[in-house]
Amino acid sequence: MTGMTILSAEGLGVRYESRRFFRRRDVWAVKNVSFSLEEGETLSIVGESGSGKTPLLRSLLGLVPPATGRASFRGRPFGAMTAEELLEARRRCGYIPQDPYSSLPPTLTALGAVLEPWNIVHGSARRSEGLVRAKELLAELRLSEELWNARVRYSLSGGQRQRVAVARALILGPELLLCDEPTAMQDVSTRGEVLEVLNRRVRAGLSMILVTHDLLLARYAAARSMVLHKGEVVEAGDSAGLLECPTHPYTRALLAALPRL
Ligand SMILES: Nc1ncnc2c1ncn2[C@@H]1O[C@H](COP(=O)(O)OP(=O)(O)OP(=O)(O)O)[C@@H](O)[C@H]1O
Ligand SMILES: [Mg+2]
Repeated sequence: MTGMTILSAEGLGVRYESRRFFRRRDVWAVKNVSFSLEEGETLSIVGESGSGKTPLLRSLLGLVPPATGRASFRGRPFGAMTAEELLEARRRCGYIPQDPYSSLPPTLTALGAVLEPWNIVHGSARRSEGLVRAKELLAELRLSEELWNARVRYSLSGGQRQRVAVARALILGPELLLCDEPTAMQDVSTRGEVLEVLNRRVRAGLSMILVTHDLLLARYAAARSMVLHKGEVVEAGDSAGLLECPTHPYTRALLAALPRL
């Protein structure tokens, strides 16, 4: 760890407008979240369904404009970036979205979906290099070779799509990776493999934010965790400590819901 902040949030808030029977109601999905992530560090964000994990992650990537506060990549607020800076930040931040059904281009093949970001950034000049990388990633993620040229829409299961999404997030060699429940659709064996692929990158210096509802995964993946409840950080600190002696009632409730080993 070099002690350089790679990503930070200051008083970050995200508000959605919902309309029901012509009546407008604002929903605060994220409220006043502040933290910073150092280079090479992994942070887990834990919370039950509906706690605002996905909106928080998307605002940390500058994909949702914040209603309050700001998110910054390497000290630069997303809101203040020029179009060019924003593109560069996107290239350096990998994102594994929660739902590989809606996030992957359905008409592409598995290989095509992994190559897409590469081709957008590097154009045709480095196409063959991209192809080599994409194949290496799909092999590392154990997607069987007969599926590489199969269309995402017709031939891939949820778990397979999710592994394609992981490869797609890694192909540009990001410095920071934001993952939203990256193993939710895996079975026991492929889950371990996906986590190992991420781990290998972390050991090589990747900074990571892992969003999960699973406290055990949070602790396994990161030394530091943040617990989100109704859009607010209710507890943050050392992951092992959070699991051994949670102070907030919500963290205790999350813990009590864990299956006994
Ligand atoms: N695109 C959106 N439009 C409107 N409201 C939204 C949107 N995304 C999220 N919200 C609001 O934010 C709240 C929290 O978001 P969300 O349910 O995605 O949290 P989450 O912690 O990621 O849940 P899950 O574990 O189920 O993925 C939702 O209940 C909803 O009210
Ligand atoms: Mg979510």
